Amino acid sequence: MKAIEIRNKYLSFFERHGHKIIPSSSLIPENDPSVLFTTAGMQPLIPYLLGGKHPEGKRLTDYQKCVRTVDIEDVGDNRHLTFFEMLGNWSLGDYFKEESIQMSYDFLTKELNIPVEKISVTCFAGDEDAPRDEVSAKCWEKAGIPKERIYFFGKENNWWIAGNEGPCGPDTEMFYDTGKPACGPNCDPSCDCGKYVEIWNNVFMEFFKHPDGTYTKLEQKNVDTGLGLERMTMLLQGKETPYEIELFSPVMDRLKELTRVDNINSRRIVAEHLRSSMMIICDGGRPSNIERGYILRRLIRRMTRHLRKLEINLDEIGNLVDIYVETLKDMYPELLVNKNTIKDVLIEEKNKFVKTLENGEREFKKAVEKAKREGKNKIDGQTVFNLYETYGFPQEITVELAKEQGMEVELEQFDKLFKEHQEKSRLGSEQKFKGGLAEQNEKTIAYHTATHLLHKALKLVLGDHVAQKGSNITTERLRFDFSHPQKVTPEELKKVEDIVNEQIQRDLPVVCEEMSLEEAKKSGAIGLFENKYGEKVKVYTIGDFSKEICGGPHVEHTAQLGKFKIKKEEASSSGVRRIKAVLE
Ligand code: ALA
Repeated sequence: MKAIEIRNKYLSFFERHGHKIIPSSSLIPENDPSVLFTTAGMQPLIPYLLGGKHPEGKRLTDYQKCVRTVDIEDVGDNRHLTFFEMLGNWSLGDYFKEESIQMSYDFLTKELNIPVEKISVTCFAGDEDAPRDEVSAKCWEKAGIPKERIYFFGKENNWWIAGNEGPCGPDTEMFYDTGKPACGPNCDPSCDCGKYVEIWNNVFMEFFKHPDGTYTKLEQKNVDTGLGLERMTMLLQGKETPYEIELFSPVMDRLKELTRVDNINSRRIVAEHLRSSMMIICDGGRPSNIERGYILRRLIRRMTRHLRKLEINLDEIGNLVDIYVETLKDMYPELLVNKNTIKDVLIEEKNKFVKTLENGEREFKKAVEKAKREGKNKIDGQTVFNLYETYGFPQEITVELAKEQGMEVELEQFDKLFKEHQEKSRLGSEQKFKGGLAEQNEKTIAYHTATHLLHKALKLVLGDHVAQKGSNITTERLRFDFSHPQKVTPEELKKVEDIVNEQIQRDLPVVCEEMSLEEAKKSGAIGLFENKYGEKVKVYTIGDFSKEICGGPHVEHTAQLGKFKIKKEEASSSGVRRIKAVLE
């Protein structure tokens, strides 16, 4: 059975059981700042699970586009997907356990014709917050699941909540037995050896979890269910991985034709990330350095890296998009309407990334030459780390390139430096949230970084006497006051502008480090050395061009700034000049 047939069967089954079919919401949640993407069918329905009246009534069903990104690094194995479709049905204070379980049983065994011997179920074992769910177990038995295939587990397996706070409750989950041998005497549905695959989750949402960890009862008892479409399709088709089903196979096959060095994991990563990126862009997502834009950026970059690994010409991206649109247009007609935008966004982001890679490759060559001159056959960890930190050059690419040169890479040292760096950026981002990220947006962040470039460029063109006297940023422009005795000539302004744009075009990485004020001074950082910064200060380094003490936040790479243009130069006060500039 094809995915679209399963979807249609599902919706019409629940329609026949009194449910109204509602449309899929956007992947980009509306009015819900707590999540980056829609991660479950219930998310757009939270107000109604809490008691609000839904215009379509108390029984709803839909398919929902979802993105879950906790597992980005796992994509490429045979089961993780970042984008997937969830089929769901809801009772908003209407039916509860018995009817829900009977409908699930009937749908699986009568509509999808899954032999009952292949189905096992799990129920909540009970704890101090809620009793053991004997009711669900009884319902399963009555429907036709023998007792020995009804299991009980605790909250870690059989309790469902989106995040840490909100409507939640015990759930009952259905598992498909793939027929693989048990991995041991204790193999059961909680085991992830691959014998049992979860296919459907019915959550009995009658509780609300508060931020302090306590639970209260909701006004109404709800049912929230979720069935992963790709996974179900894969199982019904007897396939080992979702990449073999018709939603992926045309792109997987094309990648195989194009590649010169086949690697199944890389093909899966490209196929998965491309589909996910297309769906996100289609719903209005754009790459950036923060939040959901950053997830999209990571997906596109990882895809690009693996295309290169497969030695596939990156110009093929547009054709691969065409294949996906053709494959998926019946399920997601919105792809047809947005096809050109999707291509434009993907290609622009790919180009930016390629530039980063090219800068890194240049530096890599220098490192190899140096090592060879010194008679070494190994690239040291510090160099690998510098390539990563200063040029955003991924470590695995360094390893790959080194291999091509017959050289080794000292990875232990790199891992150590990398861990230290991660810890620093973790501290940095915690700081960032404390520092009121809410007032920042992409535009002001970009102006902030442009101000650093301008400051340094002014020093280069006018001299070292230039010092910051004031700065003011809006979403429209930056304003920068600095010490300089006379009017800046048009030629000088042009030079400053050119230098800034050159640094933007070099796509330099912006890196943040925390250090003591002393260390910052020693490192040659410019900026306001005032005590208000306290013990530790943050130093932002922009490639090899600028180093400045600053609270941030900043963009991650200078190419994100666009084109820098000085609009005005004037006197601010005696011995202080003022520049207004924009990013276009
Ligand atoms: N909301 C439940 C889930 O995502 C159904 O598994």
